[in-house]
Amino acid sequence: TNPNYVNIVEVGPRDGLQNEKAVIPPSLKAELVTRLGRAGLKTIEAGSFVSPKWVPQMAGTPEVLTTMEHLPGNHYPVLVPNMKGLENLFALLANENPPTRTHASLQPAPPLPAAPPLTDEIAIFAAATDAFSKANTNCTVAESLERLAPVAESALKHGLRVRGYVSVVVVCPYTGRVDAAKVKDVSRALLDMGCYEVSLGDTVGAGTPSDIRALLVTLMSGAHAISASKLAAHFHDTYGAGVANVLAALDLGLRTVDAAVGGLGGCPYSPGATGNVSTEDVLYALCGPGSIYETPGDLDALAEIGGWISSTLGRRNESRAGKAILAR
Ligand code: HMG
Ligand code: MG
Repeated sequence: TNPNYVNIVEVGPRDGLQNEKAVIPPSLKAELVTRLGRAGLKTIEAGSFVSPKWVPQMAGTPEVLTTMEHLPGNHYPVLVPNMKGLENLFALLANENPPTRTHASLQPAPPLPAAPPLTDEIAIFAAATDAFSKANTNCTVAESLERLAPVAESALKHGLRVRGYVSVVVVCPYTGRVDAAKVKDVSRALLDMGCYEVSLGDTVGAGTPSDIRALLVTLMSGAHAISASKLAAHFHDTYGAGVANVLAALDLGLRTVDAAVGGLGGCPYSPGATGNVSTEDVLYALCGPGSIYETPGDLDALAEIGGWISSTLGRRNESRAGKAILAR
């Protein structure tokens, strides 16, 4: 495989839509996931099993998972904050088991081609500061890690992959600049629970390439160093440094980037923060002529989707590359 292949984790249907005020029907979200899959993306976050009182917009996730198109080999992770969310996911997965087709008096039917599971992956999420952790999940960082350990253990036992998130890796909206050592501790704890990767969230979107470099150097060196292959970049684009920050992370060896089509989104517990760096902008920067990088996804198709979902939701298309492509 190409060492410069950059996997894209499309978070538009989850991070992008969780903050919308108007209720979005699950059928529209399922269509979004389906279109993103057909545009060639391999990992698409489909929703969250969080409390509907906290994030009403994600309440329809079971319906999204059961109605969207599942492409074989793709991953459709969902966020899970606690055991209750994992139990709800397990209940859904159990209901979806195909009924047995063998009639007592007949030879057993040949096995059906295995249907892809509704999902094979969860994402658990923690933060680098107590203030953000309390706002987002109603508990301190230490309490959240205690709460998440059995979630990861049980998910792994059931054969699911587990991804971890750390929020507010550069700046916390409540307490200001964040100590990189704290980000390292929380990342390490998530990896020790069995997460295959930790995605570093610049939730506020205030980081600069220098911030990202300094953060990654701290994480990737010294005691308990974390290798680049276990880290992903999850940068919101509030100040327009998203693509530059992604490039800084790639320079330091990361090869997984979270992005949202149309630059959708914002975190409900990070006031003023805008959406993730847009998938179209990332692909444009990484896949131009002469680039060493390779990514999944068809840029023109993604630009179409970014334009479609933005106008459907009545919001501005936040992707610079997407708008330029649509204007050609
Ligand atoms: P809590 O209120 O402390 O929970 O919320 P609780 O355990 O006390 O339960 C209260 C009620 O909620 C009970 O119902 C539970 O059954 C129910 P009641 O008895 O009152 O009827 N409940 C649930 N229902 C459905 N699914 C569940 C669930 N859990 C409890 N999973 C909790 C604690 C963690 C649940 C809540 O704070 C929560 O759901 N938080 C999620 C917030 C969220 O989704 N934030 C956005 C995602 S993170 C993000 O965007 C950052 C990221 O993009 C990276 C970055 O950019 O930094 C990943
Ligand atoms: Mg986010």
